[in-house]
Amino acid sequence: MQTKATPPKVVLLDLRKRQAKETNYETGKVLCSMCTKPHIVAKKAHELFFESNLGDPRLFQETAQLEREVIAQLGNLLHQKSATGFIVSGGTEANMLALLTARNASNISSPEVVLPDSAHFSLQKACNLLNLKPVIASLDESYIVKPLEVEKLVNKNTIAIVGTAGTSELGTIDPIHKLSEIAVQHKVHLHVDAAFGGLIIPFLKTTYPFDFQLQGVSSMTVDPHKMGMSVIPGGGILFRNSEMLQYIKTETPYISAKSQYTFVGTRSGASIASVWAVFKTLGKAGFTEIVEQCVKNTGLLVKELKKYSLSLLCQPTLNIVSFRSNKNTNRLSETLWRKGWFVSYIPRYDCIRIIIMPHVKKKHVLKFIEVVKEIEML
Ligand SMILES: Cc1ncc(COP(=O)(O)O)c(C=O)c1O
Repeated sequence: MQTKATPPKVVLLDLRKRQAKETNYETGKVLCSMCTKPHIVAKKAHELFFESNLGDPRLFQETAQLEREVIAQLGNLLHQKSATGFIVSGGTEANMLALLTARNASNISSPEVVLPDSAHFSLQKACNLLNLKPVIASLDESYIVKPLEVEKLVNKNTIAIVGTAGTSELGTIDPIHKLSEIAVQHKVHLHVDAAFGGLIIPFLKTTYPFDFQLQGVSSMTVDPHKMGMSVIPGGGILFRNSEMLQYIKTETPYISAKSQYTFVGTRSGASIASVWAVFKTLGKAGFTEIVEQCVKNTGLLVKELKKYSLSLLCQPTLNIVSFRSNKNTNRLSETLWRKGWFVSYIPRYDCIRIIIMPHVKKKHVLKFIEVVKEIEML
């Protein structure tokens, strides 16, 4: 830290200059992110509640009430009105809390978790932290987990199985209804990682069974800071019922509220106000419109890629497109980065992944195709 003080005006001027150089969603060139430019109301709500800390919900009662309302709305959307949960730092914390609940609810000395091969790496982190053995179930030709294999891997040490509704790499949805049957039959916790898909799938024209409507689903991750147009940090963890909270409860002796349930102690009340504000502003109608627009632009990208014979890895289920170059896909990805188009390269599938988030408009898709054509000399 420097010795002398600096006037705030000078500090802010410096920061503005740096911010102007920072990556900006509005260019439409960020095609590798599951986050997007937050809704303007999220930004304003954040500013209003920026002092609020849900590490002590008794001290910040209004924010605590906002959180209860947000969780109730998510529960309602995901077909479990009495669901309970929290707005946490992200999908990683939400997944960790789910597996901690499952582990503590069981009394197994060598606990195992069955993970699809496509599960997000946060679940590996969770296994590492919680001393759980990850057991990997393979995918079928559509890149969704094989339920028969999951069932075979379930044994007396299994404390949870996980399914993903909107995988990070390809946006596919695991057969959650089949996983639910396995969970019910073997009396095991089923966690659905819908960090990305949880605020897309309910607004699609096609319906996919993926939530608490399925009897076997015990917990779900659903992140407002992804397709929820809210600010970072804004993850979400939902449990089917409040009895499950006993397994993640920590006594907080010197704080006015007597217990906490999240990993993070001091928690951003501003994030919760942002989620509340976006939900209230958009409602189901607003979210449906945003999702439909993303799906439409996804369809446009698919059509254009096919026109130039660039092969798709699979037909998109959500707003994620993965394709290969006719020559060298990794090199195409590197060239795109050098030209300021930020895509993801997925080594194990040797494909480029494009996420059509709300900041990616039709004009950006068309421009992107032009750039790809130029690089590939199509
Ligand atoms: C399916 C899925 N789960 C969990 C996560 C982790 O979320 P976060 O980065 O918010 O911790 C991601 C992140 O992209 C994800 O796609």
